[in-house]
Amino acid sequence: MRLQERNVLITGASSGIGEATARVLAARGARLILVARRSNELERVQASLRKTGNTQQIEIVSADITRDSDRKRVRKTVERLGELHVLINNAGITAHGRYDESVPAVLRKTFELNFFAATELTGELLPIIKRSSGDKMIVYVSTPSGLYGIPGRFAYSSSKAAGHAWMESIRFELEQDHIQTLIFCPGYTRTALRTSGLDEKGQIISEEQARGAASPEHIASLLCRGMERNRRLVLTNLNGRVIYLLRTLAPGLLFRLISKKLKKDFHRA
Ligand SMILES: NC(=O)c1ccc[n+]([C@@H]2O[C@H](COP(=O)([O-])OP(=O)(O)OC[C@H]3O[C@@H](n4cnc5c(N)ncnc54)[C@H](OP(=O)(O)O)[C@@H]3O)[C@@H](O)[C@H]2O)c1
Repeated sequence: MRLQERNVLITGASSGIGEATARVLAARGARLILVARRSNELERVQASLRKTGNTQQIEIVSADITRDSDRKRVRKTVERLGELHVLINNAGITAHGRYDESVPAVLRKTFELNFFAATELTGELLPIIKRSSGDKMIVYVSTPSGLYGIPGRFAYSSSKAAGHAWMESIRFELEQDHIQTLIFCPGYTRTALRTSGLDEKGQIISEEQARGAASPEHIASLLCRGMERNRRLVLTNLNGRVIYLLRTLAPGLLFRLISKKLKKDFHRA
């Protein structure tokens, strides 16, 4: 897939992996539409991208993509530009806590952004993508936790797993329209995710970054490489690849490994 002079929309572009992806795509000469709620952060990203002089066109849309009216505003901006070749569903939220200690609102809020907002924004933009010229792609930024239910992360895991099933279905359905799909599962990355997620009561968590997190720039370059190579699934780290292989080849072993490694995350104090 060629990214130069293609129109690419990124949700969650005001920080972390989305922002870094915007930088990599700008360097590839893509035309960008950046979406997130915080307009000041989007303006910051837009201004710093303009300074690099890499790309001619950077539109920003301040929108809460869990809201129908905001998704329609996003569509209006894209309609004005005429074409959309790549949609990167990246905006996401994490949620920590045991299932039996969490209030139902946690699951609902997590699905609202990680699953429903992604599917509904894609639905809103799909007619434009279909009639756009050349190769097209829909990307879902997920996580290895979407490949297998991770203890202490039931809401995050299940919302992303639902996203995987959705992407697999539309991969078949959209083939005739020359629209590729990519499920991108980055490993642990140094971003604001652990200070914007939810705890069992639906309050904002604030966890320190663990050691060994990848840089968002590195993850963004792997995402763009996966797009250019028309990959169906990208797992960026060893944990993801181990989960992917063992979940069917040796599910008992995978259960024991996860249980041992993450005991402190889900056992009661
Ligand atoms: N960091 C990791 O270790 C890791 C690992 C695997 C997968 N991921 C996935 O990577 C994706 C990006 O996360 P990140 O790590 O880069 O975290 P992040 O820095 O917290 O980025 C999340 C982005 O989503 C946007 N967002 C949140 N709610 C939104 C809403 N209702 N409407 C529109 N935009 C919204 C945020 O911007 P505003 O607050 O301005 O709206 C922000 O730009 C997520 O899907 C996450 O699940 C992250």
